[in-house]
Amino acid sequence: MTKVTFISADGKKRQDVDAPAGAILLDVAQNAGQPLEGTCEGQMACSTCHVIVCADDFGQLPRATDAEEDMLDLAAAATRTSRLSCQIVLSAAIQSLTVYIPSQSHDMRGM
Ligand code: FES
Repeated sequence: MTKVTFISADGKKRQDVDAPAGAILLDVAQNAGQPLEGTCEGQMACSTCHVIVCADDFGQLPRATDAEEDMLDLAAAATRTSRLSCQIVLSAAIQSLTVYIPSQSHDMRGM
């Protein structure tokens, strides 16, 4: 199990969810009611599943592929620790993972 913590863009809302090994982060987020669209259902063609991984947890994740990096370049408000949640498979080695859900308004102020 991985304890996943979702934090809203404004930092005000926090939700903890237990996810089994092998789960895809996008599915975990959607099942928990987080506002990630995931329009292309994991085909790496949309970037609406973009999340910002807590810097402390970023190193636990396998590196993004070049294709994922290219798609992240198009994501609004992407940061150095941005990932596509449809590409993150949770493993037993990851005990906890905190991610921030980017704001949906595409308001770039302060990012
Ligand atoms: Fe479209 Fe992840 S769901 S890139």
